[in-house]
Amino acid sequence: MNTRKRPNNLWLGRWGFILAATGSAVGLGNIWKFPYMTGEYGGGAFVLVYLLCIFAVGVPVMMIEIAFGRRGRGSPIDAIRRLARESGRSAGWSLLGWMAMICGFMILSFYVVVAGWSFSYLWKTLSGGLSGASVEDMAAIFEANNANPWALGAWSTLVTVITMLIVGLGVQKGIEKNVSWMMPGMVIMLGIMIGYAMFSGGFSEGVAFLFSFEIGKLTSEGLLAALGHAFFTLSLASGAILTYGSYLSDNSSIARTTLTVAFSDTVVALMAGLAIFPVIFANGLDPSAGPGLLFMSLPLAFQSMPFGTVFETIFFVMLSMAALTSSISMIEATVAWLNESKGISRAKAAWGSGILLWLISTLAMLSFNIGADWTLASKNVFDWLDFLTSRFLMPLGGLGMTLMAGFVLRNEILKSELALPTVGYVLWLYMVRYVSPLGIVLIFIDSLGLMDL
Ligand code: PHE
Ligand code: NA
Repeated sequence: MNTRKRPNNLWLGRWGFILAATGSAVGLGNIWKFPYMTGEYGGGAFVLVYLLCIFAVGVPVMMIEIAFGRRGRGSPIDAIRRLARESGRSAGWSLLGWMAMICGFMILSFYVVVAGWSFSYLWKTLSGGLSGASVEDMAAIFEANNANPWALGAWSTLVTVITMLIVGLGVQKGIEKNVSWMMPGMVIMLGIMIGYAMFSGGFSEGVAFLFSFEIGKLTSEGLLAALGHAFFTLSLASGAILTYGSYLSDNSSIARTTLTVAFSDTVVALMAGLAIFPVIFANGLDPSAGPGLLFMSLPLAFQSMPFGTVFETIFFVMLSMAALTSSISMIEATVAWLNESKGISRAKAAWGSGILLWLISTLAMLSFNIGADWTLASKNVFDWLDFLTSRFLMPLGGLGMTLMAGFVLRNEILKSELALPTVGYVLWLYMVRYVSPLGIVLIFIDSLGLMDL
């Protein structure tokens, strides 16, 4: 039996884990990345492949992570070490925990920059800085926003400070308390945005774009992008879900909670598409405007619509909250590790890691201005952090965990943690042993550039 229960360090509410894990999953990935990827890879066809990846790879891996966290009752490093020992395997497997923790940290160090954009656009909207801007003005505003390292740095610093404040307060008083109002608030705002999109005049075009399936547009590049995004969007292999799982009570069903989180994340991504694309189409703009979709095309569209400023404000508040409920989860593994294994108080752990994070995120932030040409293989710091995490650390960590769960640990351990009916367990094991690793290996081969797809 599990001897490492930490009854005073579990989620308080029945919805604690689900809210926090959904908060982690739902983020810039859903609202910023998913829509522009969908635009780039051809709409409905991409959406379909993405859904397949979520359920064939994302769900089984998320179940592993929650089970690892709950069984090991600790930060990724400690939890995985305990699990390996419990099966008589080498403590070296805890390297997977290290990778996950570092991966979460690295993601956060560029994530705060994008979250900072969201905060700064909220400010611009409120202070009238975007009103009456033309297409060219919008591009110039976005450039100017990036060009000034002091202003840009101030926004990402603000995000870092809020993140560390929340995490420093603890699992229940910081994380759980804040996701409990931010998540419902976010969903309500997203609902309002969709309502608005319905009256924009572009709704049917938006729906058609998201859901019409054109097989011809289905490229293998889109397929691999979808697979990589499945990891990112579900916060996998980055310590977040595993650490949150370590606070999950023993009587919650891992399969049910996983399905709830994965389903909610998917629904929010689609909702974001339904809120954004109609507004874009109604104004005759390009749905595949790349990463600038939210910060150039969308504000431009809002500016020419009735009550545009009001809805633009709601939009950026929502985006900022989505980013915060994710950013807190990325640093939780590090803070939990410093707290549990090194005996450092949570507040000190949060501010200490916050300072290191700030230094690295500053380098990422400088990629948009004075550090634009500090490049290696034509990638700047920001690009490298993104590339290394989503193309390398996440798939590698995910692969390691599927192998560990599928072949290394004693079967009974995860079987009792998951407590599935036999059919479900066999299906899960099959996915974990064969389907997920194969998918992950494909991302790798592609990343290494060995496959000319
Ligand atoms: N899932 C988050 C998003 O979609 C990103 C994230 C990655 C969060 C890794 C935590 C850990 O925005
Ligand atoms: Na997500």
